[in-house]
Amino acid sequence: MIRTPLTRWFDLTTPIIGAPMAGVAGGALARAVSLGGGLGMIGVSGTATAGFVTEQCAIAAESELPFGVGLMVWVLDDRPDLLEATIAAAPSLVSVSFGNPAPYVGPLHDAGIAVAAQVNTTDDIRRAEEAAVDVIVVQGTEAGGHTGRRAMLPLLQEAVTLTDRPVVAAGGIATGRGMAGALVAGAAGVWIGTPLLSSPEALNSPAARARVRAAGGDGTVLTRAFDVAQRLAWPERWPGRALANEFSRTWHGREEDLSHDLISSRRVAEALRTGDLEHAPVYAGESVGLLVTERSATDVVRELDAEAEKALRAAARLVGS
Ligand SMILES: Cc1cc2nc3c(=O)[nH]c(=O)nc-3n(C[C@H](O)[C@H](O)[C@H](O)COP(=O)(O)O)c2cc1C
Repeated sequence: MIRTPLTRWFDLTTPIIGAPMAGVAGGALARAVSLGGGLGMIGVSGTATAGFVTEQCAIAAESELPFGVGLMVWVLDDRPDLLEATIAAAPSLVSVSFGNPAPYVGPLHDAGIAVAAQVNTTDDIRRAEEAAVDVIVVQGTEAGGHTGRRAMLPLLQEAVTLTDRPVVAAGGIATGRGMAGALVAGAAGVWIGTPLLSSPEALNSPAARARVRAAGGDGTVLTRAFDVAQRLAWPERWPGRALANEFSRTWHGREEDLSHDLISSRRVAEALRTGDLEHAPVYAGESVGLLVTERSATDVVRELDAEAEKALRAAARLVGS
């Protein structure tokens, strides 16, 4: 069994957190991750209602195991109802990412809820530390969904030298060897999103899951095009990593033109409604090429844990006596 400060804190059997993924990670996915011994999280988008939060948390809570909720700072500033609904649902962990977490740490701590924040730069690490964030999640540019521009491994090594708080690695981890590598580099756990994109408990469509399984590791793009098309208020420093498709091939790098192109905006809105995956975003990280079968999130977590334990034992044998 792998034991770290993270497993001890949340009473987990493996130091794996299922990433909060808006549109993909609802209560059923979070519950499945927690049943595998990790900590499953629910992703809350900018258009989610407080009712969605309450409903999905009730599903996750059925397992009577720890679960978490992932909120976005730039959304919360105008949506205090999402924070209130989250606190009322009493998750074990809440992440406040993509913005300054400081204003939200106090209210969550007052409710007895631990706080995580994804960080993408050295300054972000310092800001999270100063804000008394409990779990600092280093999110590399390899990650699926919205992310920064720095690679995970150098940022992880910096984080563990800058803070004594538990640091969790996010971005590109999809095998036991990868997980073991992050733990050896100093992480107290791993935060996985892309490996859960083909699980039947997810909220994404069967067609999106099939597309993810067919995609190769070279097939992602880090782009603002989908946000610009949807007129979303995502801050520019966090573009999104998605599978390249016809829309991104046409508009990535031409976001200024796109911001005036109403027809293309309507096309993306329509694609999101109809499930046209050549024009709607399918967010996925660089590890997507390793995802080839549809598997329960519980099995994904259990297998990752077992393989990581094997890899850690093998790594120890590299050292001569
Ligand atoms: C489809 C998708 C949606 C995401 N949505 C969110 C979100 O709502 N909130 C959040 O904090 N992170 C979100 N992320 C980022 C994840 O929390 C995490 O950083 C990332 O998945 C880890 O890297 P990996 O995809 O390589 O495993 C999302 C990622 C994906 C793939």
